[in-house]
Formats: sequence, C-alpha cells, structure tokens
Amino acid sequence: MHRSFIALLCLGFVRAILQNVTVDDTSPDIVYGGRKFQCNTATPCDESTDELFNQSATLTSGSITFNFTGVAYYASLEVLGVADIMLDGEVLAALNTTTPSDTITDYIFKTGLNNIPHTLSIVPAANPLTIIGLDQLIYTASLPDKKSHVGAIVGGVIAGVALILGLLLAALFARRRKLILRRNQRKSAVLRGITVARQNHAAGEEDAKELPTSS
Ligand SMILES: *[C@@H]1O[C@H](CO)[C@@H](O)[C@H](O)[C@H]1NC(C)=O
Ligand SMILES: *[C@@H]1O[C@H](CO)[C@@H](O)[C@H](O)[C@H]1NC(C)=O
Ligand SMILES: *[C@@H]1O[C@H](CO)[C@@H](O)[C@H](O)[C@H]1NC(C)=O
Ligand SMILES: *[C@@H]1O[C@H](CO)[C@@H](O)[C@H](O)[C@H]1NC(C)=O
Repeated sequence: MHRSFIALLCLGFVRAILQNVTVDDTSPDIVYGGRKFQCNTATPCDESTDELFNQSATLTSGSITFNFTGVAYYASLEVLGVADIMLDGEVLAALNTTTPSDTITDYIFKTGLNNIPHTLSIVPAANPLTIIGLDQLIYTASLPDKKSHVGAIVGGVIAGVALILGLLLAALFARRRKLILRRNQRKSAVLRGITVARQNHAAGEEDAKELPTSS
C-alpha cells in the first residue's frame, strides 16, 4: 500500500514538454496533390519574400496533406477561393475568400488535440478555381519531460523518506501514549494501594480504639 502511494506521487511529478515544430512549405513532409508554384528569392511572387518563413511560400491549386503527431497545429496560409480545412477526415472549416489579403500571416489553427498521429489536409474546390498559398505549418509536439523523470525519482524518494519518517513518528507517539497510559495505570494502582492501605490503617486504628484491651 505504501509502495503504491509512492508510485502515485511519482506519477504526479511526470509532466510533458510542449514544443512547437515549424515545417516550411518546402518540406518533403508536406504532400502537394496538384500543381504547385514556389515563391522564393529566385522566383518572387511579390516584391519581397522577407516576410515569409524561410523566404518561401508555395502556391497550389491542389490539396495539401500533412501528417503530424501532436496536440495542436497552426497553418500559415491564404486561400483565394473555396477550400475545406480537414483534420483526420473531418471538415473543421470551410474557407471562402474572394479578396486576397496583403500578407500570409493568418494562422488557421486548432489546439487541444489528443497526442496521437493526425492528418491535416487543405482541400480546394475545383470550381471556382481556388489557389492556396502556404508559408509554413507549425505543430505542437508533446514530449515526455526527461528532467521531470529525475524530478519524479527525487520527488518519489523525498516522498518515501517523508512517509517513513511519518510512520516512525506515528509509531513513536503510539508507544509514548502507551507508556504514559501504563504509567498512569501504575500511578493509579499505587494511589489505589495507598488509599486502601490508609483505609485499612484507619480501620486498624479504629479497631484498636474499640478493642483497647486486646494487647
Ligand atoms: C506554438 O506556436 C503558436 C503560434 O505561434 C503559439 O500560439 C503557441 O503558444 C506556441 N506553443 C508553444 C508550446 O510554444
Ligand atoms: C528553407 O528552404 C530551403 C529550400 O528553399 C530548404 O532546403 C531548407 O531546408 C529550408 N529550411 C527550413 C528550416 O525548412
Ligand atoms: C498520413 O497518414 C495516413 C494515415 O495514417 C496515411 O494513410 C497517409 O499515407 C499518410 N500520408 C503521408 C503523406 O504521410
Ligand atoms: C462563397 O462566397 C460567395 C460570396 O461571397 C458565394 O456566392 C458562394 O456561394 C460561396 N461559396 C461557398 C462554397 O460557400
């Protein structure tokens, strides 16, 4: 029982580190389902690529698919037209934009996911012709905290020592209480003895008074 109590304490100390992983639009982990055009310093789509992550963005009229394992994602993309944002086959949002905004800064995101493999896909409609511009994807990985394992062990050891100390103290107190109880019992036994002896003595004196001639 004590051992499981310590194990529970250890579990309480194990935490996860949340770490953002940024994936550039040029990453091979991002699968483009259609034609794409890359905007970068060599072939800029705008006057400047400085505002883009890794100075590149990918324009496509096809789908974008990305697998990740984590608890959140943030997509930095623009859609001109109509597109579905899908996670694990489920449509999370339907985008419908008719005017392009100036910069690719909007994060289409979702947090609070289960820490399991996910598939994010951005699926454009064929009609009207839809163009997606992707700058970067960020996902939040949930990694076990190695430092807190040490913390857990140290915490567990401290908890164990504290528990043992607690048990020792409790045992000592119990023994002390028993000793005091026994001493009190002895004391009252002595007192009873004295009382009885006194009574007997008094009775003896009275007897002596009543029987003055016996000696
Ligand atoms: C990850 O990045 C997003 C978007 O920049 C931010 O809101 C979030 O706080 C970051 N999370 C972590 C754990 O750094
Ligand atoms: C930046 O883009 C280049 C290709 O343009 C690529 O080789 C490199 O890996 C990218 N860097 C990051 C951090 O994604
Ligand atoms: C992403 O994961 C799904 C489901 O596990 C798999 O079917 C698909 O091939 C993966 N796609 C990529 C690009 O890795
Ligand atoms: C997109 O919005 C336009 C008007 O802004 C509307 O005419 C069109 O039906 C919408 N398309 C979808 C698929 O919602």
